[in-house]
Amino acid sequence: MSTLVIEGSQWGDEGKGKVTDYFAQQADVVVRSQGGNNAGHTITINDEKYALRSIPSGIFNPHTKNILANGMVINPKQLLEELHILESRGIKEYQLFISNRAHIVLPYHELLDEAYEKYKGDAKVGTTKRGIGPCYSDKANRIGIRVGQFIDEEDFKNSIVESLKIKNLELKMLGLEPLDADVIFNEYKEYAKEIKKYVCDTSMLIEKEIEKGSKVLFEGAQGAMLCLDHGTYPYVTSSSPAAAAVPVDCGIAPYYIKDVLGISKAYTTRVGEGPFPTEIDSDIASYIRERGHEYGTVTKRPRRVGWLDAFALNYAKRVSGINYLALMLLDVLTGLDEIKICCGYSLDGKEIDYVPSTIKELNRVKPIYITMPGWKEDISDVKTFGDLPKNAKIYVKKIEELTKTKVVIISVGPNRSQTIELEKIF
Ligand code: IMP
Repeated sequence: MSTLVIEGSQWGDEGKGKVTDYFAQQADVVVRSQGGNNAGHTITINDEKYALRSIPSGIFNPHTKNILANGMVINPKQLLEELHILESRGIKEYQLFISNRAHIVLPYHELLDEAYEKYKGDAKVGTTKRGIGPCYSDKANRIGIRVGQFIDEEDFKNSIVESLKIKNLELKMLGLEPLDADVIFNEYKEYAKEIKKYVCDTSMLIEKEIEKGSKVLFEGAQGAMLCLDHGTYPYVTSSSPAAAAVPVDCGIAPYYIKDVLGISKAYTTRVGEGPFPTEIDSDIASYIRERGHEYGTVTKRPRRVGWLDAFALNYAKRVSGINYLALMLLDVLTGLDEIKICCGYSLDGKEIDYVPSTIKELNRVKPIYITMPGWKEDISDVKTFGDLPKNAKIYVKKIEELTKTKVVIISVGPNRSQTIELEKIF
């Protein structure tokens, strides 16, 4: 059995797109199991940049099956735009499969996302405003519309009328204009016609592929610290990016998950609001932001920058079962005199061994740092671990020691070729 989950182990944007693309070249199947177009996975191929939102990173390989599983929320209009952009750039031969049980993001979800954020004021989450939270709320509230209904015109028409009975009340309550079922139906039925050919029972497909020995990659979106259950709630997304959620989000048995590769930057970033214990408030933050191009793929917001939080990484490892690490953007740290790593938290002057569950406590947490010497040598062309500068090697080894997890990939630049593979796991 060859299955591997690629999981963000921080607050998202760790470079999962690059790692998935790296492995996707050998994968038979790439599956996106949760989230939607709130994700933005940047892939660089021959210096050409592609920003994927809902489509799995295996789309560039004609032999790879790309699956959007039941745990996803899919905006059909945006999905088709993404596909058309890829096609216009020459990516015409691909295999795409969409779960009939995934949920559809409709215009009222985006409007409600924006309105909730506005009324929350200072307490806003800082969402991507893609309607993700409202769509997952409808799913949990059993008033969502699934892909299977969406591609059946009669079913879609009835469902949209039923949903709008409630959603229009909600829109009016928030000071917004009610929406017309016919207008949405007439626009969206055309999208449904276009995506119909991709729709199937993806749970059966994934199981069949695993059983026949195919190499299956599960491409996580967001990161463990944005998990609805285990992240810094309420400053989280509305699904679970943890590898532990993959079986439910794909409709497969848990014993089919063999390995989990946690993706971590060599430092930490976060977009949106919420606690961030290792956030840097000196010029070093801008140094890292500029070198790492730390601006959101989806919203273009500047990302907040902090030191590597090995304490949070260990938490992510524990709650989701990470057994290998990929360390991304190591080259960005080149030039710093000293680099800090957070190896523990203290709360009100006392060291703690847990990640607090409330924002009130998380805001009072102080990181406990160790300081490592930096390096000045350019490492963007380094091909082996042995050729890294001594202090870069010491830094990587320290992370392995603190997390008790083997680093199997080191990334030293955005291109496929700028990847050091220390151990083959897939
Ligand atoms: P939502 O997923 O749009 O509801 O946003 C909720 C939180 O998750 C916000 O803080 C977003 O910035 C964050 N978020 C959602 N998707 C991503 C992502 O792909 N990378 C990083 N942060 C994300």
